[in-house]
Amino acid sequence: MSEPFYITTAISYPNGRPHIGHAYEAIATDVMARFQRMRGRDVRLITGTDEHGLKMYQTARDQGRATIDLADEMSGYFREMYRKLNISFDNFMRTSDPAHHRASQAIWQAMEANGDLYLDRYEGWYSVRDEAFYDESELTEGEGGVRLSPQGTPVEWTVEESWFFRLSAYQDRLLALYNDNPDFIRPESRRNEVLRFVEGGLKDLSVSRTSFDWGVPVPGSPGHVMYVWVDALTTYLSGIGYPDTDGDFARFWPANIHMIGKDIVRFHTVYWPAFLMSAGLPLPRQVFGHGFLFNRGEKMSKSLGNVVDPMTLAEQFGVDALRYYLLREVSFGQDGSYSAEAIVRTANADLANSFGNLAQRSLSMIFKNLGGEISNDYSPSEEDLALRSTVRDAAVNLLPREFEELSFSVGIEEWLRAVFACNQYVDTQAPWALRKTDPERMRAVLMTLFRAIRTLAIAIRPVVPSAADALLDQMGIADDARDFAALADTEWFAKLAASGFAVGQPVPIFPRLELPEGEGEA
Ligand code: MSP
Repeated sequence: MSEPFYITTAISYPNGRPHIGHAYEAIATDVMARFQRMRGRDVRLITGTDEHGLKMYQTARDQGRATIDLADEMSGYFREMYRKLNISFDNFMRTSDPAHHRASQAIWQAMEANGDLYLDRYEGWYSVRDEAFYDESELTEGEGGVRLSPQGTPVEWTVEESWFFRLSAYQDRLLALYNDNPDFIRPESRRNEVLRFVEGGLKDLSVSRTSFDWGVPVPGSPGHVMYVWVDALTTYLSGIGYPDTDGDFARFWPANIHMIGKDIVRFHTVYWPAFLMSAGLPLPRQVFGHGFLFNRGEKMSKSLGNVVDPMTLAEQFGVDALRYYLLREVSFGQDGSYSAEAIVRTANADLANSFGNLAQRSLSMIFKNLGGEISNDYSPSEEDLALRSTVRDAAVNLLPREFEELSFSVGIEEWLRAVFACNQYVDTQAPWALRKTDPERMRAVLMTLFRAIRTLAIAIRPVVPSAADALLDQMGIADDARDFAALADTEWFAKLAASGFAVGQPVPIFPRLELPEGEGEA
């Protein structure tokens, strides 16, 4: 049986509609999931919505509606967005789901049984926007003396009876974890931040609230609901069936990667492993804190009016163009910026002009000049063999090596270099000129191109799944021959030629994009 691979996105707060930052994280996670599936792994991708907590409660209250009603509506938009963006999730977990409540109560009871929970009184600072407790020493002063969290959000003084988790007891075990597993926190810069934070000493964590009741009830403690992060993190377990520890949970836990944004690294690399250690559960292998996406370099906010609906972008430019752009443009792990004109520029340059044009021209020539015939009856020249090996190397070695490390932009560059090599080959071989002078040579050139295009289309499938599949459909490549095992099959071309498949009039796959009216370089 193939090896399991479990990857998760953060579960977003459905207190508003999804924005491009949420889309970005889901797309990157999906590319990794599709890539691993193509590597032959048995993949689970879990996503969902984080519906408890004060932020949800207050947003609904301010809108004069029931919290569950807000959660139902907004959660629906997230699910719909993931569908539209071709996110291949296996489960969409809502934390309001009773099955999720059971999982959260089970991990709570395991932590309690381990002696790590005790009742006391919380007095301190809380940020509703971050759903986070902060120490006095972490705060700064904003305008008008307002106290701000390290994320720049306002904090309020909170006093209430609360359950506490003995986080202070986990400092040494956490430091040992980071030390023994240098890849547990990536990228490196985030790892250093966490190390400094934990080395500074850990205080026990308040893990329940009594001032409102929108949350998972604490078992055996009426009036207490769990601190939203306790139940939110537990989604990674409930999403694969916990507290049932057979079935998917046994197969997929611990997760290979928790994909999250840099603002929530502390929750995932300090609190989460401590909860799991306390509950006696294995720890995830890696937490990757990706960067933030900005609109033309500006932070997105409702007040600036620059929050972009990812669905609008997908409708304007196409899902594949958006996916490609986000992974190609932003060096994964770092912050990035995006703008409509940059999407158009990149998609046109790389997808329409370089790869799309290569495919369209080559398949057209095969259709027109060879009657669409795929033939293995030719002798490749040295140039043909050289191109074949450049393309193979990019698809089988270079891109996968980078994708495995989540270095998507570098992997895509390797792919693009092979596309450029093909275009250069077309220019120097000039197959159109060979039609009359040397038809045998023309056949060799066009077959070499056919092989290259198929290999390049398979390699880029995780990033642009619909377009790559549409192209492979036109090339007669079977659905089950579009993965890395197929790339290792040296007989595929001979088999296709023997099948009698013929290329039809090709349909362009990557349209040239135009900026919508009124949008452009300011
Ligand atoms: N609900 C918590 C996560 C709980 S995970 C157990 C949360 N929700 S969120 O809606 O605020 O953010 C969801 C994810 O989107 C987070 O990983 C966050 O870092 C990411 N992003 C939010 N804004 C972003 C950008 N502008 N750019 C990139 N990612 C961003 O945090």
